[in-house]
Amino acid sequence: MAHKFIVPKNIISGKNALGEAGVYIKEFGEKALIVTDNIMVQIGNVDKVTKVLKENGIQYEIYSGVNKEPTDVIVEEGIKLYKENGCDFLVALGGGSPIDAAKAIGAMITNPGKITDYMGKVIPNPMPPLVAIPTTAGTGSEATQFTIIADTKNNVKMLLKGPNVVPTLALVDAEMTMTSPTNVTAATGIDALTHAIESYTSRLAQPLSDTFALSAIKRIFANLRTAYNDGKNFEARNEMALGALEAGIAFNNASVTIIHGMSRPIGALFHVPHGIANAMLIGECLEFAVEGAPERFAQIAKVIGAYKEGISDMDAAKALVLEVKKLCDDINIPTLEDFGIERGEFFTNMDKMAEDALASGSPANTIKQPSKQDVIDIYTRLWN
Ligand SMILES: [Fe+2]
Repeated sequence: MAHKFIVPKNIISGKNALGEAGVYIKEFGEKALIVTDNIMVQIGNVDKVTKVLKENGIQYEIYSGVNKEPTDVIVEEGIKLYKENGCDFLVALGGGSPIDAAKAIGAMITNPGKITDYMGKVIPNPMPPLVAIPTTAGTGSEATQFTIIADTKNNVKMLLKGPNVVPTLALVDAEMTMTSPTNVTAATGIDALTHAIESYTSRLAQPLSDTFALSAIKRIFANLRTAYNDGKNFEARNEMALGALEAGIAFNNASVTIIHGMSRPIGALFHVPHGIANAMLIGECLEFAVEGAPERFAQIAKVIGAYKEGISDMDAAKALVLEVKKLCDDINIPTLEDFGIERGEFFTNMDKMAEDALASGSPANTIKQPSKQDVIDIYTRLWN
């Protein structure tokens, strides 16, 4: 069976990536709309970007309105500013939200109609060039063909997708992630690890996504604790930034599975941040999934050094699950209870959550197919 593999057209990474990228960014246009949030303005990250644009004679306008998960209203505001100011390309700066918003703004510059017309659809026309600069490690949005935008009228989250919304340039400069607070480092780091493990054990995995997934897992396991405990450690931040990028490339092509499927309802109902919800689930979900392909999980155990000579694949897979749980503990991932969620309320909603999780389609990519009861059992075990 043949496989298609989609990656950003350009990737610039490593020390001083932002400083050296100006000459390439210049080729994308004359005036950028910088899509970001207020915190990025306050902590000076926007200044770092505008300095590079100025040095290269690039004009810009700043839209710092992406202060929550992006909505159709935010996208409309961005489109208006882009058009009013005669911009001809986009620079997204921030975590997943500004990058997702910029993808949708770009898509609606070159495609007719409203953003809500494209719910669940592939975006047909190429968007203007988009430079994505992640400040967390991370969602991997700098490398993916997906964007999630909330439809505020119908109160649903829309998935828009396709090769036309992959950023033109993923600009991965770990210096931009140094300001990420510890809890965000933990949550986004486990999100990236989840992308990588899910990609490697997805039914849609392919040889090239495997390469990126295993490399991401190795980097993240070796560096997340250090990035969490010593946020100024450039080497650890750089490895995490690369790991998150690799994990993004992996799931862009192999998709996510049960953990993401089950975490979305927790996020939607209880407002748990995406990475934390994944981290709350990852141990129990992996424990469920390992039976589907112990040899795949054993391979991951080998990559992170959890494999001992002579043990069975299943024992290696179990050792991996323990290591993942230990990592989550070491970086203080909260439980549902720690997060202040009421047990009774959680159980009341569990049936619908299980249905929503399965309806998202992601759990069906899991190597061991979960039933609705399996999903309910896993949600229940989060309280034991
Ligand atoms: Fe994710």
